[in-house]
Amino acid sequence: MKSYFRPEIDALAGYTPGEQPKLRRLVKLNTNENPYPPSPRAMEAIRALSGESLRRYPDPAADALCKAVAERYGVGRNQVIAGNGSDDILTMVFRAFTAPDRPVAVLDPSYSLYPILAAMQGAPVIRIPLAGDDFALPEDILEQAKGANFLAIVRPNAPTGTLFPKEDMRKICAGFDGMVMIDEAYADFAADDCMDLVKEFPNLVVSRTFSKSYAFAGMRLGYAVSSPEVIYGLGKLKDSYNVDAVAQAAGLAAFEDVDYFHQTLQAIRRDREDLRKKLQELGFKIVPSEANFLFAAPPDGDGEGYFRYLRENAVIVRYFPGPVTGSYVRITIGTPEQNAELLALTATRYKKA
Ligand SMILES: Cc1ncc(COP(=O)(O)O)c(C=O)c1O
Repeated sequence: MKSYFRPEIDALAGYTPGEQPKLRRLVKLNTNENPYPPSPRAMEAIRALSGESLRRYPDPAADALCKAVAERYGVGRNQVIAGNGSDDILTMVFRAFTAPDRPVAVLDPSYSLYPILAAMQGAPVIRIPLAGDDFALPEDILEQAKGANFLAIVRPNAPTGTLFPKEDMRKICAGFDGMVMIDEAYADFAADDCMDLVKEFPNLVVSRTFSKSYAFAGMRLGYAVSSPEVIYGLGKLKDSYNVDAVAQAAGLAAFEDVDYFHQTLQAIRRDREDLRKKLQELGFKIVPSEANFLFAAPPDGDGEGYFRYLRENAVIVRYFPGPVTGSYVRITIGTPEQNAELLALTATRYKKA
């Protein structure tokens, strides 16, 4: 059949999500899910929903949730928008700020969805390589991003876990002639975040997700915080009822259960340090990580071999082929038992003679 697709879509390979295997006995450390369940209060909120609340359309603006977010960060209600996962937020943002004559600048390596969202828009992508073994921001990032209308940064970065200095984020927002997005999908696991910079820079949008730190990957909930003008503009692009009633109720309950949230975060941070130390003792090169995963290169630099070995032994991590990323794998921090299983297998393969 003759193709009626736009040529951009025909040319697109599409995003490959991390696999979701059906096997039961599997240690799944490949998509940065939280190893702990969501807040018990979120589960209660789901059970308390009536059939009536599903019969009717949800609140199109997810107002109660957005109000709670606005209060927490000390911004106006008109500075918050909710999404069906943060991928929904990213879709709105790319639709808003990229086009064939509006290039986007992305860091490399970074979230592999960005170039695909750009391709859907027919927008050129300026790739800015991260520098050195610790995947740092290049000093001339503003120079390299020149000509882009939109600059997308993940902080802490994925898949490396790197927390770029906050002061650099401030300089970038001040110096970049365009829209800046800081994707804070993993910021809850980090020492600091850039939410307060929204008050200083109207050209900054900060994106967050419930998928990782709130253990809501199966629920689909995210939000963005920015200046009122930007949030107003993004609102024109969103699906009318983009956040369902279940996600709104459960999300609000989880967001307000601050104690549970901090307990699980603390456990994940502690286990991240423990796993880092033990992998380093086995000769691994580990990029300093402020996220809920480690970007780790085995002693022989054969990321793919290590990935395959783990997979054969029912432990799944994420491998990103390529000259820069190919010597590493990305390992999500699991429960202490899951991490121990990964370590035991790893020690068998790499134990020093
Ligand atoms: C950097 C980054 N941003 C956004 C997302 C999307 O998260 P979600 O759509 O589940 O909110 C992910 C998921 O892996 C991610 O790694």
